[in-house]
Amino acid sequence: MANKPIALTGDRPTGSLHLGHYVGSLKNRLLLQETHQQYVMIADVQALTDNFETPEKVRENVLEVAYDYLAVGIDPAKTTIFIQSAIPQIAELTIFYLNLVTINRLQRNPTVKAEIQQKGLEHKLTAGFLCYPVSQAADITFIKAKVVPVGEDQLPMIEQTNEIVRTFNRIYKTDVLVEAQALIPKMARLPGTDGQAKMGKSLGNAIYLSDPTDVLAKKVMSMYTDPDHLKIIDPGKVEGNTVFAYLDEFDPRVEEIEELKAHYRKGGLGDVALKKRLTEVLEKVIAPIRQKRVEIAQDPVHVLSVLKEGCEKTMLEAEKTMVQVRQAMKLDYF
Ligand code: TRP
Repeated sequence: MANKPIALTGDRPTGSLHLGHYVGSLKNRLLLQETHQQYVMIADVQALTDNFETPEKVRENVLEVAYDYLAVGIDPAKTTIFIQSAIPQIAELTIFYLNLVTINRLQRNPTVKAEIQQKGLEHKLTAGFLCYPVSQAADITFIKAKVVPVGEDQLPMIEQTNEIVRTFNRIYKTDVLVEAQALIPKMARLPGTDGQAKMGKSLGNAIYLSDPTDVLAKKVMSMYTDPDHLKIIDPGKVEGNTVFAYLDEFDPRVEEIEELKAHYRKGGLGDVALKKRLTEVLEKVIAPIRQKRVEIAQDPVHVLSVLKEGCEKTMLEAEKTMVQVRQAMKLDYF
């Protein structure tokens, strides 16, 4: 265990997790927990950067996300699950890193830029939100993570983290900090049910791991396909068709899917038939997760104890790094 490489990721607790999370990083985490010493963080501090006025929402969703983790099979015996705010060393490290990043550089982070626009934060941009990539650099480095399983929208965060690592090691003449590498899934990002490039809670186009069967079916039936495919006999487009994107990702019967694509392109295959198939395929993925989630959610006290244990273990590791960091920065007075 001790000499396995370290992996770290996290999610903001602003809602329960959806299929975008599943494809984007949960599946990779299930693999990594077999080969790596893995840490999974519930990023409540980061969630607060744009939800600071509704702390109760963040608080509730910490448990929801923990239920999701345990339901998909993140195993606390293999993966350490912890809460960001419980590790004060992350906040300490963030303060040190803020000196190493210019405002200009922060304003150029494409993920943050897109979020500012999407959430309409232009005229009420807080220092906390603009600087969250610095705090994320602290998340990744306090544990010396080498691998970070995330969706491709997080690549700019890893890039910015590694810049900070190099600057820190150069200025303080040390090799305490370790550069990290993103682990991006085969399908870079799962589109939303409306065909938008990204699935997101705030976009209202998400299928949740906790969705009941009827909700799942309804969402699939409303999915974006080819807007020009009006009659069944019409030829249809497969590219940009969300239903086919999902079938490619979730339906293991690859040859059948290729036949369906050919049929759809030629004409004579209706959307409803495809959507029925997709509903069945997704139900197979979600049903066991949903069922396990119900069982887990019956014992929140147990889940909290899992989180507490994870935080205690993580804090010990964090302090080891911080001793080295403070020494490198000449802050080791006593
Ligand atoms: N920014 C990530 C997201 O929005 C969440 C996150 C916070 C994270 N800290 C992290 C991901 C550290 C990976 C590593 O999903």
